[in-house]
Amino acid sequence: MASTSCLSILVLVVALTASSASAQLSSTFYDTSCPNALSTIKSAVTTAVNNEPRMGASLLRLHFHDCFGCDGSVLLNDTATFTGEQGAIPNKNSLRGFTVIDNIKTQVEAVCNQTVSCADILAVAARDSVVALGGPSWTVLLGRRDSTNASKSNANSDLPGPSFNLANLTQLFANKGLNVTEMVALSGGHTIGQAQCRFFRDHIYNDTNINSTFASSLQGNCPQASGSGDANLAPLDATSATSFDNAYFTNLLSQKGLLHSDQELFNGGAADTTVQSFASSSSAFSSAFAAAMVKMGNISPKTGTQGEIRLTCSKVNS
Ligand code: HEM
Ligand SMILES: *[C@@H]1O[C@H](CO)[C@@H](O)[C@H](O)[C@H]1NC(C)=O
Ligand SMILES: *[C@@H]1O[C@H](CO)[C@@H](O)[C@H](O)[C@H]1NC(C)=O
Ligand SMILES: *[C@@H]1O[C@H](CO)[C@@H](O)[C@H](O)[C@H]1NC(C)=O
Ligand SMILES: *[C@@H]1O[C@H](CO)[C@@H](O)[C@H](O)[C@H]1NC(C)=O
Ligand SMILES: *[C@@H]1O[C@H](CO)[C@@H](O)[C@H](O)[C@H]1NC(C)=O
Ligand SMILES: *[C@@H]1O[C@H](CO)[C@@H](O)[C@H](O)[C@H]1NC(C)=O
Ligand SMILES: *[C@@H]1O[C@H](CO)[C@@H](O)[C@H](O)[C@H]1NC(C)=O
Repeated sequence: MASTSCLSILVLVVALTASSASAQLSSTFYDTSCPNALSTIKSAVTTAVNNEPRMGASLLRLHFHDCFGCDGSVLLNDTATFTGEQGAIPNKNSLRGFTVIDNIKTQVEAVCNQTVSCADILAVAARDSVVALGGPSWTVLLGRRDSTNASKSNANSDLPGPSFNLANLTQLFANKGLNVTEMVALSGGHTIGQAQCRFFRDHIYNDTNINSTFASSLQGNCPQASGSGDANLAPLDATSATSFDNAYFTNLLSQKGLLHSDQELFNGGAADTTVQSFASSSSAFSSAFAAAMVKMGNISPKTGTQGEIRLTCSKVNS
């Protein structure tokens, strides 16, 4: 009896040790198995971003939307057995960059067959995109494996929306282990890229915490009536849309956030002081953003023998 429970405890300890060891991502994960992985991804991302600067924003966002569970699940097309994340409300007719990721995966497969996961490609592509647009660099931790399923309903419940208030945003990030400082830093991702009228219409017509000149200028290309001009674009950072800088935060100080959710970060609440500090110091923003990206990239990855290394990012291996 006593020796049985001793054995059980031993087995438990070994199992826990093994699972925490395998849960650890590492910067050197592909150093021997695929030494050219990172340079292959970087050159493909640089080409794509030079071709279309907005693609850097789209790739950064893809990693974020994958990462509330960094397992490549966002890339999976719908199948007979599951409905994927691409049709979820925050993603539908909005996420971009799938073709670029497929193209990078093809190039990576050509140098190392079935070695580098799609989830890791997303993490590296996000970093390389930020660097290509003039932002900070960081060391990407690697070793994520790809999921063999995906959940539209998880994507709907885990990802924030543009109508969210500060409490809603704080709750969703806290659900993933990210505090207010980290949430504000990550929101600085909106220093690049574009948003569709349907996501900022209410803010520019109905909210009062917006600069009125700024609101009027946006109304020209975003009609009030729902259904007209829904997909018309405006930059998330009107000051410098293709430059990864801290202008997103200086914009918030003058009530020039594009989304309702953006301006919630500077609206008299607990995030104000962090917004002010990132607005006044681009280096404070850069280092907080880099650290928060590493932390975001660590959200429940699959490691060890979990999941698989997909051959094609949009479908599970057959
Ligand atoms: C804080 C909560 C967040 C909300 C409510 C939010 C919401 C949105 C919305 C509505 C869009 C416009 C999508 C479209 O019009 O198709 C967008 C775009 C974008 N988001 Fe966020 N987002 C949030 C956080 C983040 C984070 C943490 C990152 C990255 C670290 C990020 C990166 C981006 C980028 C780069 C774009 C532009 C994409 C492009 O031009 O293709 N967002 N976001
Ligand atoms: C890569 O490996 C998989 C199985 O591991 C195989 O099905 C596929 O044909 C290989 N591709 C190339 C290009 O060698
Ligand atoms: C995938 O399937 C497993 C087992 O059925 C389940 O536990 C997991 O939550 C699913 N993942 C997603 C993202 O739906
Ligand atoms: C957002 O917060 C409000 C209260 O501040 C709450 O009533 C609402 O249910 C929350 N919505 C979400 C999606 O969390
Ligand atoms: C949030 O996390 C960061 C980084 O881990 C830490 O430095 C900071 O003190 C935390 N902030 C709050 C408000 O807890
Ligand atoms: C603004 O608020 C009014 C009244 O609540 C509502 O009817 C309208 O749909 C909202 N949105 C816009 C874009 O006007
Ligand atoms: C709103 O923005 C305009 C244009 O940048 C600026 O001239 C004006 O002073 C701002 N208004 C307020 C109340 O800050
Ligand atoms: C996934 O869907 C995209 C868009 O419809 C398509 O281009 C791609 O070929 C699909 N992938 C697979 C493996 O069928």
